[in-house]
Amino acid sequence: MAVKLAGIKACVFDAYGTLLNVHAPVAQLSSRIGKDADAVSRLWRQKQLEYTWLRSLMKAYVPFWQVTGDALDYTLEAFSIEDQGLRDDLMELYLHLAAYDDAVACLKILKELGVATAILSNGSPDMLDAAVKSSGLDAYLDENISVADVGIFKPDPRVYQQAVDRMGVAERSEICFVSANTWDAQAAKSFGLQVARIDRFGLKDDRIPGTPDMLLDSLEELPGVVR
Ligand code: 2OP
Repeated sequence: MAVKLAGIKACVFDAYGTLLNVHAPVAQLSSRIGKDADAVSRLWRQKQLEYTWLRSLMKAYVPFWQVTGDALDYTLEAFSIEDQGLRDDLMELYLHLAAYDDAVACLKILKELGVATAILSNGSPDMLDAAVKSSGLDAYLDENISVADVGIFKPDPRVYQQAVDRMGVAERSEICFVSANTWDAQAAKSFGLQVARIDRFGLKDDRIPGTPDMLLDSLEELPGVVR
């Protein structure tokens, strides 16, 4: 029997890696990067996330756009790639990431079912605005929530509290949070949201607090889970 999440008033989504394909920019310019393209994309993403965690602990918040650029600079240096034009082109593509095919389909159905929808992301407001417009997701999102408003990155609990405040729910459990990032999904569950992790990268749960309520293969499964 399909598992259902009871009492859901809103579905709140992580953006980068969940709705938006963070590996698309390098894939699109792989001919200019060569055989290391996949490793470049993985290290860029790894450093981007590491820098968010380190900056939160150091109380040294800067917008995710700068973190993303710093992580790319580290990565290009690590691979001895000196090409300012390539760097600028990769950052431009990051501003206009494509949405995964299942993301648009899922959000469209959720809106038809009357479910409130939002993004909750490390992304800076300017990054999120650009991305949701270029991907067409803005048509199906009620709120676009950035950690910039609290000045600290995920998985700080103040980030997930933003979703409760902005969606106007009475209980944390009335939100279904969706992420492909294990640590993000688990932190949201530990905070008290209901959680569906989408398994885009074949990852196992991390050994940290919080176990998602369910694992999805596609976001198209979500509407049947919350209604
Ligand atoms: C996001 O906050 C975790 O980067 C991911 O969108």
